[in-house]
Amino acid sequence: MRLWGGRFEGGPADALTRLSVSVHFDWRLVPYDLLASRAHARVLHRAGLLTEDELGRMIGALDDLERACKAGEFRPTVADEDVHTALERGLLERLGTLGGKLRAGRSRNDQVATDLRLYLRDHVRHIVSRLVELETALMSQAEQHAETAAPGMTHLQHAQPVSFGHQLLAHVHAFARDIERLRDWDRRAAVSPLGSGALAGSSLPLDPQAVARELGFDSAAPNSMDAVADRDFAAEFLFDAAMIGMHLSRLGEEIVLWASQEFRWIEMDDAYSTGSSIMPQKKNPDVAELARGKSGRLIGNLMSLLTTLKGLPLTYNRDLQEDKEPVFDSVDTLLLVLPAVAGLVATMRVNTAKLESSAPDGFALATDLAELLVRRGVPFREAHEAVGHLVVWCQVNDKDFDELTDEELVKVSPHFTPDSREVLSVPGALAARKAHGGTAPDRVRDQLVALRETVDGQAAWASGN
Ligand code: ARG
Repeated sequence: MRLWGGRFEGGPADALTRLSVSVHFDWRLVPYDLLASRAHARVLHRAGLLTEDELGRMIGALDDLERACKAGEFRPTVADEDVHTALERGLLERLGTLGGKLRAGRSRNDQVATDLRLYLRDHVRHIVSRLVELETALMSQAEQHAETAAPGMTHLQHAQPVSFGHQLLAHVHAFARDIERLRDWDRRAAVSPLGSGALAGSSLPLDPQAVARELGFDSAAPNSMDAVADRDFAAEFLFDAAMIGMHLSRLGEEIVLWASQEFRWIEMDDAYSTGSSIMPQKKNPDVAELARGKSGRLIGNLMSLLTTLKGLPLTYNRDLQEDKEPVFDSVDTLLLVLPAVAGLVATMRVNTAKLESSAPDGFALATDLAELLVRRGVPFREAHEAVGHLVVWCQVNDKDFDELTDEELVKVSPHFTPDSREVLSVPGALAARKAHGGTAPDRVRDQLVALRETVDGQAAWASGN
């Protein structure tokens, strides 16, 4: 079954056929190809190229083909080069010669570009729904831990205490930006290539704008050559997916650390952790590790498509067939990883006692002490120096800040007074960071209110409201 036999004498070589075939991966475009075919049939009818009766039979056959594909009754054969070839065969089997009328004014070049846009716009909404579930899981943990002090880190070293909820919400902001990026992507992807034909448009009186509207696009492509050659929408989606992958890998890495014996910040639920085949005591963070690991293929898929596209002359080139596998793989990967990470986050138990007891470790309140001196008029440079000396003194004498006597305190620097100790409290340090964006529990609760509104809007967008 070939769509281009007319001018050829012999059949194609086996090696060519095997190289050429894409139906084993583009078969998933069936529903979208059929949607576009129905819209095209209606436009042919309005152009006077299909009678009312022919249109009715055509739509009936397309509906039946869809049913047969869903039921697994209609399957691609080894002789079908791609999804478009297979579906035309199905149409011919149902309609005889009438089936051959649908190809008028249409090429696989505008067809495949349309199908892939339809597929992606649909699946981006599924991905956003799964991201919303992850945001929701992070937010409900954050809500319970707005007041829980944790060691805030830079360079993976204790830096300053933070609210653990604040840290969890930092991840939510990253995923919320990813969703906004996808919504923005969707506006650019909402352009219909159908009507562009092979590259130049059609001499038949088609109505690309009407087809675009019927398929839920905002408009038809203004340039037929760009329409069949452009894969920006696929590359841009792959970038967004790679960014999500990168964010998942950063969250994954944190969870791996938190679950370790060294941190013990969280306990993973049994349902979201794995055991070892040899060490009976083990409980491994495989979900978090796979989230981290899968970012490699998400980034690779972007590189793969960009490399395929670079240097291609206008317009369609068969290289473009290589767009689909990376796109499908990134969609599948995200739909696989996101529910697992959301489940892991929703069910993890946070070890509040451990977080709170380690929050002041490593002299994490040193900045608060320096800022107290600043409020008393000491230049920060001098305050920094004085607190630095105090840290060294404590280390040499094996003491923590809160174990210092009044005499010891003033001995290190005359800037310190017994009441300097007031700022050496973790809850005080958190509450003091109460400016916009700070880690004070009140600000964390403000963030939650704002984020809930954002996430509600994102959920509504994904479900088409
Ligand atoms: N399977 C092809 C693809 O995915 C469809 C377009 C083929 N067009 C052509 N002129 N050979 O790109």
